Amino acid sequence: MMRDRQLFFGLLLILTFVSLHKLCYCDDQTVSCESFDEPFGGSWIVSKNGDYEAYGGIKFENVDASLNQIGLNGDEEGNKRITKTTLVEALKDEREDVIQAWYMDDNQEDQRLPHHKDPKEFLSLDKLAELGVLSWRLDADHYETDEELKKIRESGGYSYMDFCEVCPEKLQNYEEKVKSFFEEHLHTDEEIRYCVAGSGYFDVRDRNEAWIRVWVKKGGMIVFPAGIYHRFTVDSDNYIKAMRLFAGGPVWTPYNRPHDHLPARKEYVDNFVNKAFNASA
Ligand SMILES: [Fe+2]
Repeated sequence: MMRDRQLFFGLLLILTFVSLHKLCYCDDQTVSCESFDEPFGGSWIVSKNGDYEAYGGIKFENVDASLNQIGLNGDEEGNKRITKTTLVEALKDEREDVIQAWYMDDNQEDQRLPHHKDPKEFLSLDKLAELGVLSWRLDADHYETDEELKKIRESGGYSYMDFCEVCPEKLQNYEEKVKSFFEEHLHTDEEIRYCVAGSGYFDVRDRNEAWIRVWVKKGGMIVFPAGIYHRFTVDSDNYIKAMRLFAGGPVWTPYNRPHDHLPARKEYVDNFVNKAFNASA
């Protein structure tokens, strides 16, 4: 009788272990998507040193769709597992090598620091595009002959082009200029910047007025729509060389906030703020 009870509890223990293991199969390098919706609220989870965490702060709402996107089939039991390294490589956005976006903290100290939140809160470049901010990764070493750049210029009608270098050696009253670039403003036309050397921060407001910092490095090209409130600063390296493009004769006039009455601002709010709010309502 005693032996039967021991056998029963032993079996129970094994069954409990197996079902727990099946629920969230995960080791340091392995991700399983089985039953993720329930225990992890649909987020993509990876295991790091035995703890679960959301990958890179980015939430994938549909894990199966993401796995299908990278062509991962389940094993004979229907389990879908992938190593962390493969996952990162497979879903990597090449643009993020040269352009990264994150929500800023509220700290008012040195504008040239990254100003990450704690913990860091990154934003995908596709999310940034929902605010009208478009981005590309281009070959900055061969911009004279780059066919992709040519296509972007043709489709946007960006006939004007010049270069702008921001650094203490090239800009008179450098510190004053850096402060003035950091004034929140908008333009009545697109602002197009292609970083061919160095790096800098372009900050934009999201729909709830939170600041998003967009770090653009060599090879990163970015288009800010007319009417979006934004600002610019060099980072701690104090150097950026950017190609400036414009459709027609350039107009660089900044309209410091508030300039909500301008048609360009109203159009931006209609297209990228109100429509999104209406869609989510
Ligand atoms: Fe601007």
